[in-house]
Amino acid sequence: MSIVKRTHMCGQLRMEDAGKEVRLNGWVQKRRNLGGLIFCDLRDKTGIVQVVFDDTVAEDVFQKADTLRSEYVVGICGTVREREAKNKDLPTGDVEIAATDLVIYSAAETPPIYIKDDDNVSEDLRLKYRYLDLRKNKMQRNLTFRHNVCILARNFFAEEGFTEVETPMLVKPTPEGARDYLVPSRVNQGSFYALPQSPQLFKQILMASGTDRYFQIAKCFRDEDLRADRQPEFTQIDLEMSFVEEDDVIDIQERFIKKLFKELKGIDVQTPFPRYPYDEAMERFGSDKPDTRFGFELKNLTETVKNCNFKVFTDAIEAGGSVRGICINGYADKFSRKDVDKMQDAVKAYGAKGLAWVRVPAEGDITASIGKFFSKEEMDAILAVFDAKPNDLILIVSDKHDKVVFDSLGFLRRDLADKLGLLKDDEYDLLWVVDFPLFEKDLETGALSAMHHPFTSPKLDQVELLETAPEKVKARAYDIVLNGVEMGGGSIRIHDSQLQKKMFHALGLSDEEAQLKFGFLLEAFRYGVPPHGGLAYGLDRMVMLLLGEKSIREVMAFPKNQNAQDIMCEAPAPAGEGQLEELGIDIRG
Ligand code: AMO
Repeated sequence: MSIVKRTHMCGQLRMEDAGKEVRLNGWVQKRRNLGGLIFCDLRDKTGIVQVVFDDTVAEDVFQKADTLRSEYVVGICGTVREREAKNKDLPTGDVEIAATDLVIYSAAETPPIYIKDDDNVSEDLRLKYRYLDLRKNKMQRNLTFRHNVCILARNFFAEEGFTEVETPMLVKPTPEGARDYLVPSRVNQGSFYALPQSPQLFKQILMASGTDRYFQIAKCFRDEDLRADRQPEFTQIDLEMSFVEEDDVIDIQERFIKKLFKELKGIDVQTPFPRYPYDEAMERFGSDKPDTRFGFELKNLTETVKNCNFKVFTDAIEAGGSVRGICINGYADKFSRKDVDKMQDAVKAYGAKGLAWVRVPAEGDITASIGKFFSKEEMDAILAVFDAKPNDLILIVSDKHDKVVFDSLGFLRRDLADKLGLLKDDEYDLLWVVDFPLFEKDLETGALSAMHHPFTSPKLDQVELLETAPEKVKARAYDIVLNGVEMGGGSIRIHDSQLQKKMFHALGLSDEEAQLKFGFLLEAFRYGVPPHGGLAYGLDRMVMLLLGEKSIREVMAFPKNQNAQDIMCEAPAPAGEGQLEELGIDIRG
């Protein structure tokens, strides 16, 4: 069988091509036989074009065309001509191909899913037959867009003096927050590699190696619970720069993002992006990745209610916590009693014990879940904090831990805005969150862990506090947030071994433990290391946001499902006896 050497892609053909002899390759989208005429929609990754076999073609070609079924792979020769009945829904809808010859490369069984963009089939079926799912034009467009982001990033950072360096995939297990994926070593039995959670340590070592500016489109692996914007295996656009401070890193990123939006979306974004200190982001939006496309900002009611008769509030305040709320202005009528009950359940997932509410109806008296505990004056004082007006719904959370209050209200604020249709995919809200705390405290054990990672530098004027009040120390870290999603994060690193040791101590790591885990980094830094800092974008998240997709699985060719499985190739799977024996591994139970 000879290959029909392609002259055009299916989706390219327009009126100006009329009269041209063309050769196309692709899949049969559908075929209709109207007696003397056979219509066949031919699809490739660029789109669909109509092909017609009529009585001018040779009899054997016509017979062959009659055997075509959906998803047959074919080559077609023919002439472009104007269509009699134009199809305004198709970019190629003004023309059709009058076929002269046909080659069938491969027949196809009836596919288990339709090759149609908005086919409402279950995600598991889509993932099982991913090769069919990826045939959809939308999926091919998404992959191409992702490719364009990578090309743009490579060119941009190369022009800025960054060198792309590959770092290893088999590394030392060094927990960086999430769980590692472990890989057993055959040659060194009983020992394990880890798949990298990020190239963090290697990129810092590259700075000590004189690479000056490093960049990589890097695969990362984290064994964590899955969400719509999280996968166990994902990709970062990862970078690191020598001899820089926060503003240097931020400036180059803003230029990159500006170019990305301009060239790939045709949108001018304003730089510099607003910078929100972490504390302000939490106070106002209850989130370290605030979505500022809408209001409903948090208000602190602690002072207003500290002497009230409602024990839930006063207990929380006495235990060092707070009482805060949000006001859903002008939308009270959109949420029923039942909806508010559902919100109660939702905030419980964030550790809150409950949700108090005050409803200011469009007409009539206010109602409130906490009404009987508050005098009219006290209630008026609460309403005044929110400047409440008719048709407002106030939602209040108290807890002895501020984190619970922020997380609950931060979630509600965005969730309700989403339900109200206030989150527009084509509105891009870019901002930085800066001045993060260096540490975060486990609410149960009180143990400190690094909020970003243990190599992030504290603010230099706060180093003294590392020993005395570590929870007060702020980090030289920054996150870039797009539409309430953390698109990337980074920091200026510690480049001084003594300071790094202090950091490890604050994290409860002894010198020996630190040496065992990160000795190679500490050692590298003993021989001269430039001050350095960097950042990593989640490429999948970035592409998801730019395309207005709801899940990163829509922008990855072969993602895992919610149970971290690849159901197309059935991974993970048990290893063979022989394999395990070679690795010296016994499976228990
Ligand atoms: P961080 O852990 O913040 O920083 O990761 C950087 C960015 O990677 C994306 N991301 C993910 N995307 C999909 N699935 C996941 N499971 C996932 N986890 C993270 C996010 C995030 O903002 N080494 C540091 C960067 C640095 O300091 O330079 C790091 O990995 O978009």
